[in-house]
Amino acid sequence: MPITFSELRLDLASALAHFLEPEEASAESLRWFEDGLDWNRAKLASRGDETVTAVMRRQVGQWLRRRRVGEPWAYIIGFERFRGHRFEVTKETLIPRPETEMVLDAALEIGHRLGVNQVCDVGTGSGILGICMALETPWEVTASDISQSALNVAKVNAEKLGAKIKFVHGDLLLPIPDPMELLVSNPPYVDPADASTLQRELSFEPTQALFAEDKGLALSTEILKQAQTRGARAVVLEIGAGQGPELIERAHSSGWKQVATRQDWAGLDRILIALE
Ligand SMILES: C[S@@+](CC[C@H](N)C(=O)[O-])C[C@H]1O[C@@H](n2cnc3c(N)ncnc32)[C@H](O)[C@@H]1O
Repeated sequence: MPITFSELRLDLASALAHFLEPEEASAESLRWFEDGLDWNRAKLASRGDETVTAVMRRQVGQWLRRRRVGEPWAYIIGFERFRGHRFEVTKETLIPRPETEMVLDAALEIGHRLGVNQVCDVGTGSGILGICMALETPWEVTASDISQSALNVAKVNAEKLGAKIKFVHGDLLLPIPDPMELLVSNPPYVDPADASTLQRELSFEPTQALFAEDKGLALSTEILKQAQTRGARAVVLEIGAGQGPELIERAHSSGWKQVATRQDWAGLDRILIALE
């Protein structure tokens, strides 16, 4: 039986509501229309009574089969928005999260305050932090990742968005050349002990991008140590809820003088800032 776009939208929202909260399902159904079918809200409002083609219905059915088993929409469609840009994502890259924009804002604020020229994004993934810093400042940006596949995606994103960045491959700060003034990172920080309690969507994301030993703190701790040894003036890290107090102590032990955390919209620790 033929179906209109408005009907399809309602059907889709109710299908998604079988495994998402109703509000999330409604918002996600709009994203499917906008990003997947190229039907934005305005088009839906003005032309919602048009009949959906058989090809489109089949396509939505295929997407829904993948989404039902937990695959995130960003992987299905192949991109995620961050800071108003479209970033290509693959299964080798973490999907950019809205809260990481707070890390970007903190890095921009600290970098401008210190008047830095050289910044690096460690564990760049799809490239969001390094690319946005390169687009929004005159700084020289180096971005690293241990995953060559992730770096390949980041390079494509940088090229598409016109960001000039030096990409280097390797472990943490090792491949990054001196001088290093400001180091920004959203490292893996999930405690492997929490793996069984996580949303099923996370099982589609690269393990290497999510988990870190030592209750999720291993890489953040190592970044703080290495950045101090290498003479960086500041580090801005995304951290997990509840990791603030322990990381503040570890940052002081590594020699950082001023260390503070900032909280996200939910009031949970989200950013650690360490200054010389
Ligand atoms: C949480 S993801 C962050 C990706 C991106 N910066 C973002 O905010 O969406 C962490 C990234 O760190 C990389 N990574 C993990 N261990 C690393 C290591 N030892 N050295 C460098 N990068 C590493 C992963 O491959 C992954 O791309």
